[in-house]
Amino acid sequence: MDKEHVFFENYAGTWDRDRKENPEILSFLVTLMGLSAGDTVLDAGSGTGILLPYLHRAVTGTGRIEELDYSHRMLEQARQKFASVPGVTYTEKDILKYKLPQKTYDAIVCLNFYPHIAQYKEVFIKKMTAALKQDGALIIMHDMPRSRVNALHARGEEGQSCILPPVDIMATMLITAGLSVTIAMDTDSYYFIKAEKKQYIPYEQYPEFPVHDDIPDTDGTSHAHGHSHTQTKAVMNRLARISGHLEAIKRMVEDGRDCSDILIQISAVDSALVSVGKVILRDHIDHCIIDAVKDNDMEAVDNLKKAITRFIK
Ligand SMILES: C[S@@+](CC[C@H](N)C(=O)[O-])C[C@H]1O[C@@H](n2cnc3c(N)ncnc32)[C@H](O)[C@@H]1O
Repeated sequence: MDKEHVFFENYAGTWDRDRKENPEILSFLVTLMGLSAGDTVLDAGSGTGILLPYLHRAVTGTGRIEELDYSHRMLEQARQKFASVPGVTYTEKDILKYKLPQKTYDAIVCLNFYPHIAQYKEVFIKKMTAALKQDGALIIMHDMPRSRVNALHARGEEGQSCILPPVDIMATMLITAGLSVTIAMDTDSYYFIKAEKKQYIPYEQYPEFPVHDDIPDTDGTSHAHGHSHTQTKAVMNRLARISGHLEAIKRMVEDGRDCSDILIQISAVDSALVSVGKVILRDHIDHCIIDAVKDNDMEAVDNLKKAITRFIK
């Protein structure tokens, strides 16, 4: 048992007293979750089951709730308090080591839990995503402001890795894991982010970005050996996303956000730009240069050489 686990075992008896439940905020957060009658919900890091009555009201008697926590005493408190509530199971496991059933939950909720697994966030998010049903949602929420969460965790030994990030950073992480973020709120009283497991859309099937035939090439001329690039749509989509990302970074700078958060986002844009450059380069080689060589258009070949030299600098 590590130090943190021992801490929670020791704290279980007085947790509810010290935690000070705010029913108004918890009801609101559970409303935001958008649960339906009959849903199956995993309450990850459930502690003494603070959220259980709210979840039960939302999923009604036909739903199923799994309270999961590695602390025996925390779960024992929950079991005693809610012995008469039907449709509830209690799983005493370390969520990072436990093999969760796949495609099982309509919702997985982490109330005040994320910082405890933040060191292993990629593995955790991937694992939760696999455990969700199609269209299920992963919800990361706190019934206190982010500043307070981080002040509490700053005292821990894990330091920066246990920090609850701003919602847009969290959203980027969840989107990178393949989820669709549908709600993201960071207020003076709570933090809430909901990410849904939507049908995967392959890149080639993304909705078409309006591409105008009359847009000239960047140098204002059309290709001398005039034929189209096959990746134009994909390139335009990528560039549209990069420019949206850049706008978000501008807002972060305006809002005076943490420099290291901003730098992480800048490096993401940087890699995205390099990767779109590679798509353009491959397209150019596949569709322009081969023909240019055939037509003995040495100027085009020469220009490509110069472009590659600049690109890989
Ligand atoms: C801050 S408490 C939150 C409890 C409850 N959700 C609440 O808001 O009152 C975090 C809970 O996560 C549990 N926990 C921490 N790491 C865990 C892990 N790896 N697996 C399962 N439970 C864990 C602790 O035992 C503790 O009950």
